[in-house]
Amino acid sequence: MERKILVTGAAGQIGSELVPALRKRYGKDAVVPMYHHSVPKNAEKPFEIADATEKETLAGIIREHGITEIYHLVGILSAKGEQDPALAYRVNMSSLMNVLDYAKEIEKKPKIFWPSSIAAFGPTTPRDSTPQHTVLEPSTMYGITKVAGELLANYYFKRYGIDIRSVRYPGIISWRTPPGGGTTDYAVEIFHEAIKHRKYTCFLQKGTYLPMMYMDDAVRGTIELMEAEPSKIKVRTSYNLTAVSFEPSELAEEIRKQIPGFTMDYKPDFRQQIADSWTRSMDDSAARKDWGWKHKFGLPEIAKEMLVNLQRELKSS
Ligand code: SER
Repeated sequence: MERKILVTGAAGQIGSELVPALRKRYGKDAVVPMYHHSVPKNAEKPFEIADATEKETLAGIIREHGITEIYHLVGILSAKGEQDPALAYRVNMSSLMNVLDYAKEIEKKPKIFWPSSIAAFGPTTPRDSTPQHTVLEPSTMYGITKVAGELLANYYFKRYGIDIRSVRYPGIISWRTPPGGGTTDYAVEIFHEAIKHRKYTCFLQKGTYLPMMYMDDAVRGTIELMEAEPSKIKVRTSYNLTAVSFEPSELAEEIRKQIPGFTMDYKPDFRQQIADSWTRSMDDSAARKDWGWKHKFGLPEIAKEMLVNLQRELKSS
């Protein structure tokens, strides 16, 4: 069967890097990015403009293109979700239910990727080396939609045989597209500010450890998960996935190695409470064992890649 991939949330932080990676791997016409209102200037056909919360529109697109795989990335992140919890619930849950319910109705069920997050964890979760199977009592609306989504993924797999796969992403660090409205965004903003102003005011407190990953690892890991033999996928809720764990001053120190004189102060805001409810580090040995997950970028490599690429980008813009 010809591979045809739909990527929803294609203009988002992950989507904007996953789409070119998928196109490089499977060919341009095999990938249909779906945008909501912000269509990138250089968007190449085929693409669609639609709202994933509208089931009939989404179903039409899946039918029309003969979609065989869906990377359903639409989602409102943690910090933005706390500003409008009802919107986060509506967008995150109804779009996922639309994808799952339509997949259930059709004969040739598409394979689905859906991202969960460290936000599925909460204050009662063990915070260090958080195990794969653990307490999930998040305190944000974003986290609630992630836990519900994980359980739905498992349910639709067991009950309807839909091959849906998922990872709990840590904070993702990238230079091409900024993240939008997350709690881990400081770890991207810091690079922009270090290059432009040699100083940064961090909205999380010193000592706030969070699991993190470089975008290239995240994209590669996601595609590897989707390409793995179905028999290797033992976890049908969502796999813990991580690369490194650090706190703001460690990141600042790493940046200082290349931008001497970079300074950082701290002004924690409401996002501190969110970060404090999450995990400090994750045990992702199930992903490593089941389908061979392996990260490539540690903290020094991430800092180097970010600074080199951003410096070049900012100079040419
Ligand atoms: N990076 C996301 C956030 O901070 C976590 O999934 O909301």
